[in-house]
Amino acid sequence: MAEELRYPHLFMPIDIEGTVFRNRIIAAPMGVPRAIQLSTTDYGGISLYDKSLGGSAAVIVTEHYLALIAKQKSAFDKYAMDVTRETLSVMKQGGALAFMELMFHSKKRSDGTNEAPSDGIFLNGEPARAMAYEEMQIQIEEIASKAAEARRFGFDGIMLHFGHDSLNSQFLSPIWNTRSDEYGGSLENRCRFSLEALQKIRQAAGKDYPVILRVSRHLGVKESYEEDDMLYFLKQCEGLVSIVNISMGMDCYGGTIDRYEANGYAHSTVFTPRMHNLAFCERVKKETSHTVCIVGGVNDPDACEKIIASGKTDFVMLGRQLVADPFWPKKAQEGRTDEIVPCLRCLNCYHISTEHYNTQCSVNPRFRRENRVPLKLPPAENKKKVIVIGGGPAGMKAALTADERGHEVILIEKSGRLGGALKYADFGEHKKDLKAYREYLIRMVERSDIQVLFNTEANSEMIRNMEPDALFVCVGAKPAVPPVKGIENAETALHAYGKQETYSGRIAIIGGGAIGCELGIELAESCDVTVIEMASLPVPKENWLYRHGFMRVLKETPNLKVLTECRVKEIREDGLVYTDHTGKDIVLPADHVLNAAGMVPLKKEANAFFGITPDTFLIGDCGRIGNVMSAVNEAYFTATNL
Ligand SMILES: Cc1cc2nc3c(=O)[nH]c(=O)nc-3n(C[C@H](O)[C@H](O)[C@H](O)COP(=O)(O)O)c2cc1C
Ligand code: SF4
Repeated sequence: MAEELRYPHLFMPIDIEGTVFRNRIIAAPMGVPRAIQLSTTDYGGISLYDKSLGGSAAVIVTEHYLALIAKQKSAFDKYAMDVTRETLSVMKQGGALAFMELMFHSKKRSDGTNEAPSDGIFLNGEPARAMAYEEMQIQIEEIASKAAEARRFGFDGIMLHFGHDSLNSQFLSPIWNTRSDEYGGSLENRCRFSLEALQKIRQAAGKDYPVILRVSRHLGVKESYEEDDMLYFLKQCEGLVSIVNISMGMDCYGGTIDRYEANGYAHSTVFTPRMHNLAFCERVKKETSHTVCIVGGVNDPDACEKIIASGKTDFVMLGRQLVADPFWPKKAQEGRTDEIVPCLRCLNCYHISTEHYNTQCSVNPRFRRENRVPLKLPPAENKKKVIVIGGGPAGMKAALTADERGHEVILIEKSGRLGGALKYADFGEHKKDLKAYREYLIRMVERSDIQVLFNTEANSEMIRNMEPDALFVCVGAKPAVPPVKGIENAETALHAYGKQETYSGRIAIIGGGAIGCELGIELAESCDVTVIEMASLPVPKENWLYRHGFMRVLKETPNLKVLTECRVKEIREDGLVYTDHTGKDIVLPADHVLNAAGMVPLKKEANAFFGITPDTFLIGDCGRIGNVMSAVNEAYFTATNL
């Protein structure tokens, strides 16, 4: 007999207009630009594959790049069909319904202008020109015929993307839609383009063809539309769509809009509460007849169960959490919640956030490499004795990977607990995701065959006597001490964690990286904090969306300041002196000066372990200062090759 489900509401089937959704989980569209360059045969192995194997989602949605992948205008052009067929087959392999995402784009005309509701300038500086009535009708006809093709081809439904930076969001927004015809002006008029499109799409694809409609509850851009406007629009859509998917924010548009700021609402960071669209979902449920699906920061099956059971949403849609762990649905279904790899919401997987520099996942090394990284690592042909020194994220990941391959693994940790630098994740609301990941790694180590030696300081003689075949040195880093007069008067910023309540008055923090700025937020709860940063931006090494998330907190925290392009010259007992961007020296009185001027690798300590075995690897911060992503990925790939 089947076991009782831990999440009965999350896994309760639902029949919508004759289509049975086997549970309430939808895998979000997640465009992966690299797939565009891959050939047909490779494409089947990318991203959707793991989601499909993850098993139990009711629906998987393609990203809107599908046509581009085959370098064609439409996924149904004759030379694109092979890719589309292969994609569909991969999506359905795990039993999910396959939905195709369709979106209205601002098309480029032959004169170099772009289609838009009204004249303006796009983000890339290109001119936008108002669409003629005929151009609008052509776009509608094209999407309607693609919807019909999707049905004919075997897709189980479509997801219409009317949110973020879609033409539909632009038509609804009074700042971008300044038309004086029946498609502009009043709210009723601004909804017209999208409503006409929905009617045509339903006619073309059939009334019973499932449609998920994605909208942004608002765009996070001043003078755009309000939530009440979106609610009005959704009321007009009743009977035209099967499920509405509530997102927020936009990718980018142009003019004076800051692309990253508005984007941070669509792709939330650690500075935004999880499931920040829930209140609006609840409103749509109460005030319309729609079936509702939340998206944005959904990760916890317990929370999903609660919000569905209490009627706040009918479905949950997961984006990045299924990148971090495509097996989330299966694990939740089997009640193995504590085996889910938590997403850090770091956005290193997102090409726009990282300007294509870091498009991989911090916690899932397989992401975007599904075609070359096996799902299950093969057992090692020669079982080796592997010693890992240091129980931080790099050390734990290296040990877990070597253990998975069947090696004998000993993990040596000098303190009494695992976690390394992630011990600081105990402090602060915005470190919760990181803490969850640390706890996950520790749980996995505890359940493995890894032998952990706590309170053991490794030295080269001891390691030599243990006769390892392979050695992973993951001893981390120490706080940098900048060559500044009076530096002995500064405390180490990291040491302030855990005793924040003992600080009061004025605090000066040297260094506006993630450590300094995040500590600044904590201390600003009870102190006046000034962070001094040499670069022209706060948190200069983090990605754009993290920075904007932090800057929003900064705006909302009056007693936290970040001074950029300023260099600390001297630290005194009563504060410090810094030189500002004009070269002027300024005295900053402070009751405490904290040093957060970065970290330096423990190179000397790490290098002492060379010469014991040729298979010696420096992983994580002791090799080069990085982040969780570099530590985890380096550790994983090096350990897979033993
Ligand atoms: C790498 C990446 C690619 C994305 N591609 C698409 C896309 O092609 N179409 C789309 O509508 N949304 C796309 N999104 C947005 C997601 O579908 C989702 O709305 C967003 O990530 C918020 O959900 P999450 O917090 O669960 O990740 C993308 C997001 C990321 C991070
Ligand atoms: S890169 Fe970061 S945000 Fe993206 S899925 Fe991985 S952990 Fe989550």
